Amino acid sequence: MNLIIKNISQLVTVASHGEPMKRGRMMGEIEIVRNAAVLCRDGKIAWVGPMASWEPPAVGEVHEIDASGLVAIPGFVDSHTHMMFAGSREAEFALRSQGATYQEIAEQGGGIVHTVRSVRSATKKQLKRSTARYLSAMMIQGTTAVEIKSGYGLDMDNEIKMLEGINELAQEEVMTVIPTFMGAHAIPPEYRDRREAYVDLVLHTMLPYVGKKRLATFCDVFCERGYFDLVESERILTEGKRWGLAPKVHAEELASLGGAELAARIGAVSADHLEHVSDDGIRAMRDAGVVATVLPGVSFFLNHGYAPARKMIDEGLGVAIASDFNPGSCMSFSMPLMMTIACTQMRMSPEEALAACTLNGAAALGLSDRLGSIEVGKQADIVLADVPDYRYLAYHFGTNHVRTVVKNGTILEF
Ligand code: NIG
Ligand code: FE
Repeated sequence: MNLIIKNISQLVTVASHGEPMKRGRMMGEIEIVRNAAVLCRDGKIAWVGPMASWEPPAVGEVHEIDASGLVAIPGFVDSHTHMMFAGSREAEFALRSQGATYQEIAEQGGGIVHTVRSVRSATKKQLKRSTARYLSAMMIQGTTAVEIKSGYGLDMDNEIKMLEGINELAQEEVMTVIPTFMGAHAIPPEYRDRREAYVDLVLHTMLPYVGKKRLATFCDVFCERGYFDLVESERILTEGKRWGLAPKVHAEELASLGGAELAARIGAVSADHLEHVSDDGIRAMRDAGVVATVLPGVSFFLNHGYAPARKMIDEGLGVAIASDFNPGSCMSFSMPLMMTIACTQMRMSPEEALAACTLNGAAALGLSDRLGSIEVGKQADIVLADVPDYRYLAYHFGTNHVRTVVKNGTILEF
């Protein structure tokens, strides 16, 4: 099947020309074609350029979209979510509005373990149903690929229940879904007084099973005081690598611990959060080519300060933006909202924010050879928005501008 999108008033390609991501100053160079066209063939992008040089393909049926007055961008790649969950935590939200912190709430038995209780009593079918509903709602806002972490099961049966559910959604849903194993998200209550036993369970029971059954692409660890320390994190991520799981790290969210340096040392694909990253951590990530994934929605929602995205870009890093969608620290999956927060609070430009939500998000999943830009040979994941200029996506916030999503070359209209 051929699809031609014609008369696009502004096409933002975010082309990387073979580079795995945009780093430093390059993040601001996103390439704009005015009055453009894109040809998609068999789910891939076959041609991109100005209408003036467009020539219809010689053979085959061609479906047409007239995109007059619309802006085209690559689909958003949300590279960090915990969107398979049950229950909700609006009571914690209310407590924070009165000044309680995320850590205080966790110490009083709320936080991650609250959601663990709900997930353990939910069936795989229930978890899949709520997650599928969120996937559709995300697609309507322009997200075409997401990563989903386990980590609300925290025992063998429930971690596997989550991972199987995520893998099934990857098969059944239109969205590209990438599974991550995060058994090391928190110490479950029943192991509170014997944390080493839980680390052993992750290392010697969960990881071998997840690895052998190929249930995840990545292994992630919450490297933080009160969760998993540097030594435990390194052991888990190293063992994960042995089972074929590429490392990711929740690093430097609440304090500066050296998680960024750890990510660099073990060759992590990304280090995420980074609110308290040190200058040494920034340099180490740059030298090792680790994607620095910032989560503006978390800083906004928990009101705890922002990662130094401006500094990291100025130092030459590749920065990605993700939503971290989860019921505790960011109850939003809106990538346009994440861009707005990144621009107003982190001094990223609209161009940098767009590159961070598309190409660099794909890089944070090791998928930028297939996703994240509108370039010949890439998957045809294209968003058409009813705005006069691409900057409106971040500028005119709190509303959905997306008109049409093309996923794998197929038109989804809303
Ligand atoms: O990325 N930081 C650790 N994990 C999540 C929060 C999960 C939760 O609170 O349920 C995060 O912010
Ligand atoms: Fe997270």
